[in-house]
Amino acid sequence: MTLGWGHRYLMCPPEHFGVLYEINPWMHREVRVDAERARQQWERLKTTLEEAGAQIEVLQPTPDLPDIVFTANAGVVNGTQFVPSRFMHPERQGEVPYYVAWFEAHGFTVDRLPEHVHHEGAGDALPFGSVLLSGYRFRSDAASHAYLSRLTGAAVRSVELVDERLYHLDLTFCPLDEHHAIVAPDGWDRYGRRVVEALVPELLVLDADQALAFCANSVVIDSTVVMPSCPPAVGRQLEAWGFDVVVCAVDEFLKAGGACRCLTLALDVTLGPQGAR
Ligand code: ARG
Repeated sequence: MTLGWGHRYLMCPPEHFGVLYEINPWMHREVRVDAERARQQWERLKTTLEEAGAQIEVLQPTPDLPDIVFTANAGVVNGTQFVPSRFMHPERQGEVPYYVAWFEAHGFTVDRLPEHVHHEGAGDALPFGSVLLSGYRFRSDAASHAYLSRLTGAAVRSVELVDERLYHLDLTFCPLDEHHAIVAPDGWDRYGRRVVEALVPELLVLDADQALAFCANSVVIDSTVVMPSCPPAVGRQLEAWGFDVVVCAVDEFLKAGGACRCLTLALDVTLGPQGAR
């Protein structure tokens, strides 16, 4: 059994990537990004995803928007519908028109959240079965979930994030197939843990160190799991469930608080009836 999505992604090369501001606890302006290493790591991630069977669409990079490489935050994709993010921090708000232009040029209908709510796209919203699990607190507002549900027709379940180092849902949750997910419950409040336990039959639970190594920030293509790092115990469990692990070093991007999943946006996700217009 496989996810049924995750065969087509949007990525943006790190031509203008760097740590130029600090909007999460991982970012430190004094840390230099090695541009050449970043480019190599990004290329290797792209090739790895392609070899695993994914098709990659490339967004033109833009100067002065160093975080546009993290396309997971572009918005929420639902069939041919695209709901652009409303970024919490002004530093990333300038990315939105570039994402919108790409989706409009590729045949998507763009529907927007109201201006006063924040939501950071697939970084804070991942499908599991027929449900869209969405995080809130650091980057997305709890109130955004009802709007997202209304716009897409998806059933949205909310999880409160509690550790600012795990500021997006995709640092704590990685759906593997219809029964399995990698989870970092340290990042959720008690109610959020119950929501996930009720939703996902079998959990691969990361401990705090594994979660902070961004093990959940992985990309799943059928039975291949592309991870920023993989501790032996995590690898053994994934293999026992029939997955193949490929580790892709993305340490240049960890300097900005992002890893494999953050660098991709799945384009073949259908969540609810509004995506089938
Ligand atoms: N520097 C980026 C930010 O803080 C990293 C985004 C990571 N993206 C993600 N989907 N977790 O916004």
